[in-house]
Amino acid sequence: GLVAVRAEAGGGINPTIRKEEDKVVDTVLTGELAKPLTAYCRCWRSGTFPLCDGTHVKHNKATGDNVGPLLVKK
Ligand code: FES
Repeated sequence: GLVAVRAEAGGGINPTIRKEEDKVVDTVLTGELAKPLTAYCRCWRSGTFPLCDGTHVKHNKATGDNVGPLLVKK
């Protein structure tokens, strides 16, 4: 979409995530890390940001990029 084009034209990496905020910051409480595995998005295209939903695969195919999530393991 238009927002994505603007983000990329301006050198930004965030096409759509919470653009109404001055800065996108997420806090993870340590108790949440009790899960065996949590994948955090680093491509800024996840529909479940800050969690990875696999959208990076589509992004990588479309652009030749090689981004993937941050995996936090218990
Ligand atoms: Fe962004 Fe997986 S969806 S890293």
